[in-house]
Amino acid sequence: MKILPTLNLRSVSMDDAQALFLWRNDPDTRRNSINTEPVAWEGHVAWLTKSLGMPTRKLYVAEVGGTPVGTVRADNENGIEELSWTVAPEARGKGFGKMMVLQFVQEKLRGEKIIARIKDGNPASAAIAKALGLSPGPAEDNTATWR
Ligand SMILES: CC(C)(COP(=O)(O)OP(=O)(O)OC[C@H]1O[C@@H](n2cnc3c(N)ncnc32)[C@H](O)[C@@H]1OP(=O)(O)O)[C@@H](O)C(=O)NCCC(=O)NCCS
Repeated sequence: MKILPTLNLRSVSMDDAQALFLWRNDPDTRRNSINTEPVAWEGHVAWLTKSLGMPTRKLYVAEVGGTPVGTVRADNENGIEELSWTVAPEARGKGFGKMMVLQFVQEKLRGEKIIARIKDGNPASAAIAKALGLSPGPAEDNTATWR
């Protein structure tokens, strides 16, 4: 029998700034992001500070055995939660992304309407969106909205 690791979701704090910065500027993360520009440290700290004070934003880190393996975010706009996720480069391809996003939606967004915007050529994220029960709309600028 395959034993699945337990994944713990906790709120992000300023102590996570360095990890989130590294994950955000990872080349694969940038390629699959809507904004592909690298982020500067000062801008990142300003973004995180603002994010932690936003009542419409949920920002979590997933940990396995106390080690952060990824981050997931939801932004509420007009009652719809837009999801975004990233797994630490060294933790990819192990099932953590799918576990993290499904657990986040189940624990933190139960019953909410969710969407995710996914660029073409990101099969792992498409598989995660499918597992959430979402379907892709038509692609615009190489990006489809899954709802
Ligand atoms: C996309 C990302 C979050 C996926 O997380 P992950 O932990 O690597 O993915 P998982 O191991 O949970 O795999 C999820 C599914 O994708 C599939 N998958 C994983 N890597 C894949 C790859 N390189 N190519 C094709 N399928 C892949 C898995 O088989 C799994 O599908 P299944 O459950 O149907 O078998 C992660 O790779 C990442 O952070 N990438 C860079 C940033 C990014 O793309 N963010 C998302 C923007 S929408």
